[in-house]
Amino acid sequence: MISYEIYKLTHILSFLFIFIGLAAYIYSHKKIFALFHGLGLALLLVTGFGLLARLGLTSGIPQWVWVKLGVWFLVGATYSVAKRKMLSPFFQITLWMILAGIAASMAIFKPMLF
Ligand code: HEM
Repeated sequence: MISYEIYKLTHILSFLFIFIGLAAYIYSHKKIFALFHGLGLALLLVTGFGLLARLGLTSGIPQWVWVKLGVWFLVGATYSVAKRKMLSPFFQITLWMILAGIAASMAIFKPMLF
């Protein structure tokens, strides 16, 4: 059985994969970094649900997790924004940092939102 700690470590590594991959991609446009991003996204979701299970939250998805799922979707979607060079690297990286900050604070503060 995979422990809470292993899920959390992999969760953290997954979002590092995503954001470092994306940042490297916008400057190099190399496919390998797009792969980092894709792999990170898949792992992030798996480990996120693994963590939820380890926390015993199996009878429904809490509000703060819905927000994280929204961030996950947006981070996934912004790959096409990066691919098409629609935003400046500065704006793009700032946006990703804000999104990562929102997702991390949801796990830390677990607010009731709606
Ligand atoms: C870019 C997106 C995401 C980022 C940056 C992120 C970041 C983090 C961080 C930093 C933690 C550790 C918080 C702590 O130690 O207190 C965490 C925990 C967690 N995340 Fe994520 N996360 C993301 C997406 C997701 C997704 C999509 C899910 C659900 C499917 C998810 C579910 C969880 C859960 C259940 C925890 C454990 C909270 C706890 O231990 O109390 N995360 N996340």
